[in-house]
Amino acid sequence: MPKVAMTPMPARARVALTREVSSAMERCELTHLSRSTIDIALARTQHEAYEQALRGLGCRVVRLAEQPELADSVFVEDTAVVLDELAVITRPGAESRRAETATIADALSALRPLARIEAPGTLDGGDVLCVERKLYVGVSGRSNRAGIEQLRLLLSPLGYVVEPVQVRGCLHLKSAVTRVGPTTLLINPRWVDRRAFTGVDFVAVDEAEPLGANAVLVGQSVIYSASNAVTAARLRRREIDVRTVEISEIEKAEGAVSCCSVILSVAG
Ligand code: GLY
Repeated sequence: MPKVAMTPMPARARVALTREVSSAMERCELTHLSRSTIDIALARTQHEAYEQALRGLGCRVVRLAEQPELADSVFVEDTAVVLDELAVITRPGAESRRAETATIADALSALRPLARIEAPGTLDGGDVLCVERKLYVGVSGRSNRAGIEQLRLLLSPLGYVVEPVQVRGCLHLKSAVTRVGPTTLLINPRWVDRRAFTGVDFVAVDEAEPLGANAVLVGQSVIYSASNAVTAARLRRREIDVRTVEISEIEKAEGAVSCCSVILSVAG
């Protein structure tokens, strides 16, 4: 038999961009929550444990410097939508958050070609749920139709389908639904209509844990808030590897696990 020369596949690694908790986090945007005292030191400790969970799942964590003047800047997810081909720098719906994108664009510019959402479009990364080549995008208080249409125009030529999805009663689409497997969604059906999604199956949150639909899928495992023990048990019964983290202070800022990282694959 003649020998066939095999070209080795380039190794890929996972990078998780994060950012230090802002010392101003107490002045964060709040939409559906009342303000309560945030312990910044505890928030930082919890955030470090979250970063450690990312490392435990094989991510190389790149933590960006604190932005002491930008209260919500730990929530890096909202500033960029990163695909293998392109990073789209968003235009966050909350004006107080728009300045967060500059340093994210700097960090991503070495890793991906960049595109941007422009006014009057608004888009928060927390509204973008990618399942295979389809991006479901929340029509929310943060992401508007103009921003979603810009995203569609950027991504359609790359073979992605962009599908607007109405959300109700929560901040972002990913407050209501996230991936816990390649095509398995964890959902709070009170906040988003499950009929909006095709070719997937669902795990519903426990009714007493409405904030429990947010998870970060890394490989075969999910990072998940320790606040939602009943839903966590439900996921484990589905044989999903659930790594819980305490994020009480992040949750007081109307944040969740997915908000605190942008995960992308890079050449290893
Ligand atoms: N506090 C998170 C947000 O409103 O964007």
